[in-house]
Amino acid sequence: MRLSGKHIILGLTGSIAAYKAAYLLRGLIKEGADVQVVMTPAAKEFITPVTMSVLSGKPVASDFFSLSDGSWHSHVDMGQWADLMLIAPATAATMGKMAHGVCDNLLITTYLSAKCPVMIAPSMDLDMFQHPANRANLEILRSFGNLIIEPGEGVLASGLHGKGRMEEPENIVEEVIQFFNQKKKLLNKHFLVTAGPTYEKIDPVRFIGNYSSGKMGYAIANELADSGARVTIVSGPVHIRTVNPEISIIPVQSAGEMLEQCLQIFSHTDGAVMCAAVADFTPESVSEIKVKRGNDNLNIQLKPTNDIAEALGKMKTKNQLLIGFALETNDELNNAFHKLQRKSLDFIVLNSMNDPGAGFEVDTNKITIIDKDNNPTFFELKSKSKVATDIVARIISEMEQKACQ
Ligand code: C5P
Repeated sequence: MRLSGKHIILGLTGSIAAYKAAYLLRGLIKEGADVQVVMTPAAKEFITPVTMSVLSGKPVASDFFSLSDGSWHSHVDMGQWADLMLIAPATAATMGKMAHGVCDNLLITTYLSAKCPVMIAPSMDLDMFQHPANRANLEILRSFGNLIIEPGEGVLASGLHGKGRMEEPENIVEEVIQFFNQKKKLLNKHFLVTAGPTYEKIDPVRFIGNYSSGKMGYAIANELADSGARVTIVSGPVHIRTVNPEISIIPVQSAGEMLEQCLQIFSHTDGAVMCAAVADFTPESVSEIKVKRGNDNLNIQLKPTNDIAEALGKMKTKNQLLIGFALETNDELNNAFHKLQRKSLDFIVLNSMNDPGAGFEVDTNKITIIDKDNNPTFFELKSKSKVATDIVARIISEMEQKACQ
């Protein structure tokens, strides 16, 4: 199944080719995609939402809210969820609205909210397709980075012969697969990612922990997997679920357990991204029974944990990559660069505690990547998944450089 784990919005518009969308949907589902169908009001004149909801296993989204219970269909949530938006068939009217931001139905609002790539399979009569207005709209959509699946030539519903037929469903499915494969520059690579906090046990019911949510590490793992890599996350306790079949998760609690797992896995990988917020200290001894309240102060003797990144840095071969994170409050660039050197990292990702929206628990991050020559690259505040895209792009370019050495 070549599309497993992929979230696809399939947008249908009012063209006679909408009947082919049922075959297209089946083709996408057969390849393992999770598909949310969005229909314009006109599309429903050509094929019923019942057909599409049965085939997709989900209610079709068409209105801004449910007419039966008033619940809101969030185009923003759909736009964020999708890895790809595919509009097939796309009429001249819909492409015109997309090109000019005319948001009068749920499909167009979803298009404007979508953060993912968009593929468009036009379907119309030959003269409509060739009309300068339509050609100009297609150019605008291309300039937005949208991918156009060129229509084929042949007999059209009007009886005329020419260019305008929507590409056949099986060919569209292949184009979608090819699109995702192009991104797969890390095929046959295996990465280790550490994520989340560690919990250092004090007694059977208490621990020393931190506020790390694991979101950044899991976003990186997802992005690595999307680029074709197999990923093992050694994860501290987090509340995140991931279903990507390319990602396996080894849950751990303490820094000691995380170290033990990483030491076993690292030598079988092409690299590691050390994203976990590992405790620097752990109690010298763990009480077997719950520590009781008394009138005296309680002193817990702490000992330093081992630095996992540093340990992997010592094991690293010349073909392996090692990436670390630094969360700094002062003299950030210098401190981060010293960490890179001490831990033998290939690059380090600096988050500043001074940047609003960066760091623990939040969904956004603002990073600077510092390389081995102490060159910083500054990035804007972005969602953690977009930050993960930037980090993985850098990993891919470092891997390509290593391959040339
Ligand atoms: O030295 P500091 O804790 O700031 O370094 C942060 C980087 O080192 C992160 O990449 C973190 O995952 C890693 N680290 C580690 N083991 C530790 C402490 C930090 O792998 N015990």
